[in-house]
Amino acid sequence: MKALILIGGEGTRLRPITTNTLKCIVPIANKPFIEYQINLLKKYGIKDIILSVCCMPEKAKKAIGNGKKYGVRFKYAGELRPLGTGGAIKNCEALLDDTTIVMNGDILTDINMDSMIKTHRTSKALVTLALHEVDDPSSYGLVETGAKGEVLKFTEKPAGFERKSGWINAGMYVLARQALDYIPTGRNVSIEREIFPSIISSGKLMQAYKGGYYWLDIGRIEKYMEANFDVIEGKFSGVKAKARGKKCRIGKSIIDNRSVLGNSVTIGSGALIENSVILDNTVIKSGAIIKNSVICRGCVINENCTVINTALGDNSILTKYTKYGV
Ligand code: GDD
Ligand code: MG
Repeated sequence: MKALILIGGEGTRLRPITTNTLKCIVPIANKPFIEYQINLLKKYGIKDIILSVCCMPEKAKKAIGNGKKYGVRFKYAGELRPLGTGGAIKNCEALLDDTTIVMNGDILTDINMDSMIKTHRTSKALVTLALHEVDDPSSYGLVETGAKGEVLKFTEKPAGFERKSGWINAGMYVLARQALDYIPTGRNVSIEREIFPSIISSGKLMQAYKGGYYWLDIGRIEKYMEANFDVIEGKFSGVKAKARGKKCRIGKSIIDNRSVLGNSVTIGSGALIENSVILDNTVIKSGAIIKNSVICRGCVINENCTVINTALGDNSILTKYTKYGV
């Protein structure tokens, strides 16, 4: 079986981390994010992976590679302009087999793929959707199901939804080839807003898969941080990740157990780092305090600065005693 990963979004909600880096390869505990997804697919024997990128496939290919270093084969599918999640899948039609695993490119999960595929085969559904329960479904696709797990209703980003728990689209599907017939060509199509509702109203079966598994969409800053901490704290396992990158120089400072340092990070004496992710080549000088923050690559945080609840983009320089987010 092949997998198709959608990686063509702009990653706007993850700026400034994605200002110079594709969302699918932002570092999570010193590993490019995509490695976590590849490892999961490999675990279930899936090694042929199509990466659906938007606009500049060459740039993505240069940054991500051909899959060899992960022991898989990548094929890139590009778009002249953003085709949306449905359009992107349709655009790959010629590359797909009878059944395909489709994943959003920002989902950290240890879902049991075999079990999801089994659910798909037994139910003979056109599409099987993995679901996850969250407290506030408003920024996801809300899914209502019937007694046999059949999908009754799909509402993308439900407005005015009262804050209570709900089952949401986890952004992973098993897709029968015939499902592609529902997607029009040549224009931007959202699989969530347009195609899933139209499959449901056509009376064809969309099946839900509700296995218990770890799940996180890393696409917002606080979720990106959570993913790093969960990996370091062993709440998510699957890739040999590291809390400290190579060649770090660390003075007499206090760094809590969940914070992550990238490669060649320098921490001066008397600095305090808590609940934070510090990316490659950043220098945090003595007496600086960093809490609940992401400091991207190549930054210089000078003496006695305080940075709280902030994400600083690549190459930011803070002069002495600057206070951010205080
Ligand atoms: N190739 C391509 N072209 N990929 C795209 C495009 C496009 O035009 N637009 C978005 N993508 C990719 C993104 O890179 C991402 O990996 C995936 O499609 C989903 O887009 P997001 O922008 O991350 O969507 P979301 O998080 O708001 O919502 C989606 O994921 C939720 C779960 O995290 C939906 O599928 C929701 O229904 C779902 O609950
Ligand atoms: Mg997302």
